[in-house]
Amino acid sequence: MPSGTENHLGDTILRVEDLHKRYGKDEVLKGVSLELRRGETKVVIGPSGTGKSTLLRCINQLSVPDKGRVWLDDVEITHARTNINHVRAQIGFVFQDFNLFNHLTALQNVSLGLIRVKKMRRDAALERARKELARVGLEAKAGAYPAELSGGQKQRLAIGVALINNPELVFLDEPTTGLDPQARRNIWAIVSGLTASGKTVILTTHYMEEAEALSQMVCIMDHGKVIAQGSPRELTSKLSQETIVEFLAPDGASFSPALAERCTITRGEGGLVSVKTSDLVGTLGGLLDWSRSSGEPLAEMTVRQPNLEDVFLSLTGRRLRS
Ligand SMILES: Nc1ncnc2c1ncn2[C@@H]1O[C@H](COP(=O)(O)OP(=O)(O)OP(=O)(O)O)[C@@H](O)[C@H]1O
Ligand SMILES: [Mg+2]
Repeated sequence: MPSGTENHLGDTILRVEDLHKRYGKDEVLKGVSLELRRGETKVVIGPSGTGKSTLLRCINQLSVPDKGRVWLDDVEITHARTNINHVRAQIGFVFQDFNLFNHLTALQNVSLGLIRVKKMRRDAALERARKELARVGLEAKAGAYPAELSGGQKQRLAIGVALINNPELVFLDEPTTGLDPQARRNIWAIVSGLTASGKTVILTTHYMEEAEALSQMVCIMDHGKVIAQGSPRELTSKLSQETIVEFLAPDGASFSPALAERCTITRGEGGLVSVKTSDLVGTLGGLLDWSRSSGEPLAEMTVRQPNLEDVFLSLTGRRLRS
């Protein structure tokens, strides 16, 4: 069922069908299929090592898939006769490790593609590059080298480099990993601006709050497979009958069989106990009984509705960031 945010979305711009990729003995992509509609922002979320970067790299043939097909509009990217450079010019790719030229300034990094590939006149290219730097909030850093930039500034520069050709489709591979909350919010604002201007975006992350903040559509990956797709609301609504109660308890704490029958209890890091239940009143009663008999205070207890992390947990039995 489409949510309200999808109504303005257009036709399919990117179609990925049954992608497989193996590195040695490891099958990293095990048949990934997905579609992206024009103007959509899709967040691919999954634990580290699950194949997110490999998926993006296989889509534009930076890594060659072993099997499967990809179309950009009606051009089959995976076809041997397709001019891959022509396809790549239509996709802005922000790499997980920035991919900046360290011996060039911010301005030179952004203008390089215009001068070398688009053969634009140098002064026109520099003027356009200055505008792009301003758009990503780096106008004051035009003369700085990548080594002189913070992690968040490097990431914004990489976004400027990827957007300079005004691509319709933008790939952002973990653009906020390792950034502090402020720098992360700066990147979110840039991504929201891309969505608002009608660009089509695929963004990978292992922060579920990023998926909830940015995406119209979420694709959850695990072990090289897509295990769920839909809007955040569609995915969490599958658990809508459930309520989550969380609190801290010592690792060895055990719960009575009567309580365990009412709910699903999962242990997380740092003593976190996560209780999923469709019988909130009965479960809270059982937890209070347990607290009284064990002397455990149900420290930092919260009661909340399910989020994407809970969807991942219910599908895999593991947390995203375990
Ligand atoms: N060029 C390569 N050669 C060999 N193995 C590779 C190569 N690239 C990726 N892999 C392996 O493929 C698996 C998936 O890697 P990938 O980078 O796609 O994961 P990811 O989901 O992007 O992880 P992260 O969230 O840490 O970025 C990993 O086990 C990785 O070691
Ligand atoms: Mg990655």
